[in-house]
Amino acid sequence: PELFQPERINSKGFDLKHQPTLDKIEVARAPFATHQWAAVPLLAGKAKPNKAQPVTNPADPSDSPGTVAAASAADIETALANAKPWDATPAQRKEVLNRVADLYEENFGELFAILAREAGKSQMDAVAELREAVDFLRYYGVNAPEAPAVGVFTCISPWNFPLAIFSGQIAAALAAGNAVLSKPAEQTPIMAHFAISLMHEAGVPKSALQLLPGGGDVGAALTSDARVGGVAFTGSTATAMKIKATMAENLAPGAPLIAETGGMNAMIVDSTALPEQAVQAIVESAFQSAGQRCSALRCLYVQEDIAEDFIKMLKGAMDALVIGLPWDLSTDCGPVIDETARKGIADHIQTARAEGRLMHELKTPNSGTYIAPTLIRVDSIADMKREIFGPVLHLTTFGATELDKVIDAINATGYGLTFGLMTRIDDRVQYVTERVQAGNLYVNRNQIGAIVGSQPFGGEGLSGTGPKAGGPNYLPRFTARPAPKADG
Ligand code: NAD
Ligand code: ALA
Repeated sequence: PELFQPERINSKGFDLKHQPTLDKIEVARAPFATHQWAAVPLLAGKAKPNKAQPVTNPADPSDSPGTVAAASAADIETALANAKPWDATPAQRKEVLNRVADLYEENFGELFAILAREAGKSQMDAVAELREAVDFLRYYGVNAPEAPAVGVFTCISPWNFPLAIFSGQIAAALAAGNAVLSKPAEQTPIMAHFAISLMHEAGVPKSALQLLPGGGDVGAALTSDARVGGVAFTGSTATAMKIKATMAENLAPGAPLIAETGGMNAMIVDSTALPEQAVQAIVESAFQSAGQRCSALRCLYVQEDIAEDFIKMLKGAMDALVIGLPWDLSTDCGPVIDETARKGIADHIQTARAEGRLMHELKTPNSGTYIAPTLIRVDSIADMKREIFGPVLHLTTFGATELDKVIDAINATGYGLTFGLMTRIDDRVQYVTERVQAGNLYVNRNQIGAIVGSQPFGGEGLSGTGPKAGGPNYLPRFTARPAPKADG
């Protein structure tokens, strides 16, 4: 398929600078401010789930958006036994996926409320997330392939895009006609339950789409049964490695694993960059979504000639960020997802503080699992040691003759998801982008928020298997490969 498809238009989203739009959002969300949802398995058969447990609101320990009943071993067996590839033509699949997109857009108030109360998403992020989800549904629908389906696909998603990535994986597998077993992140089952209910309402049969809430144990069961034909996974690199090993042992040889994983993403700002533009791009890339995007900027290299003034400007821009409740429309930066995440990041910051490397830190609200935007000095990206999945930016400087050394250090992480370059030298753009190993390279702009259909998104090395989501090579991986020709 072509990248440019006149028949498909990306979602317009919402303009959060337009007061009547803000009023519309307030009205649509209001009924869900205290609503209690109940997430349960949605199966093509009778569910016998585990006992329901409360779901937490990361911003407010006194609020719970509802409960989740995880799938039991019996539920997993019911789902596997009743899964049937979707018996519909590509045109029918497209029509249904478009209907799902319409239903998502109609239900924006409830979706934004769940994203705020369950996932701690600022409303700016919620708008972006709904747009991306809708774009995935329409993009894969328009491109629904004729080729036969693999069969049963397990889709396992993370909590940081509980609607967009969750829906994107499922939409791709369904567009290709597979039966989907969906295992959402344990932190965001309510979003998953609501989204799957809308997919069923739009016409996806239950035998082609089942929801199995639960933790890693449910994911492990759904990637180790020979009735599963392929797996789409987005999450940490460590979990992807486990799934790869499990699949090799239990699934048919060659069963596809599409894994989109972590990143240690860098940006280089040289002395010709426009400081105002660079600072804005850095603040968005590092701190939007509280730094909980796989694409987020983790390590900034600033050329030493401009560093002093540039860092001052960066700290000033950080000070202007509003850290607050996700529900408040003025919030820029909400909480991190849970206490485990908060503690891991806080320990990292504490080590930097003890070593005298803390450069700037904002204040956090008194309750909820918040980490305030923080700036830490490092000598090299290697000092980070691992992906720090939160609003922490690491900064180092480099000399005019050290560009190759910087590029080598970035490549040596083994990750390769996003990379940003700020420069006004054309030759340098070519030189650097040809050498840095990253799936998505951005020049003179932020490095988050890839647009479905225009900027296929995905990494290389430890960051993922490819092909890129939202691009033309993704869907073929969800179809059966043609049988090899006989010799002679
Ligand atoms: P995670 O790996 O802890 O969990 C992801 C999913 O895997 C969850 O649904 C979890 O229940 C499931 N899981 C855990 N153990 C499993 C097992 N043994 N078998 C099968 N499933 C199992 O990741 P997370 O903390 O939810 O998400 C954050 C990570 O995701 C970060 O590393 C981030 O960079 C990455 N991410 C990558 C992309 C991308 O497109 N490359 C996008 C979003 C997030
Ligand atoms: N697709 C998301 C982004 O580009 C992860 O930020």
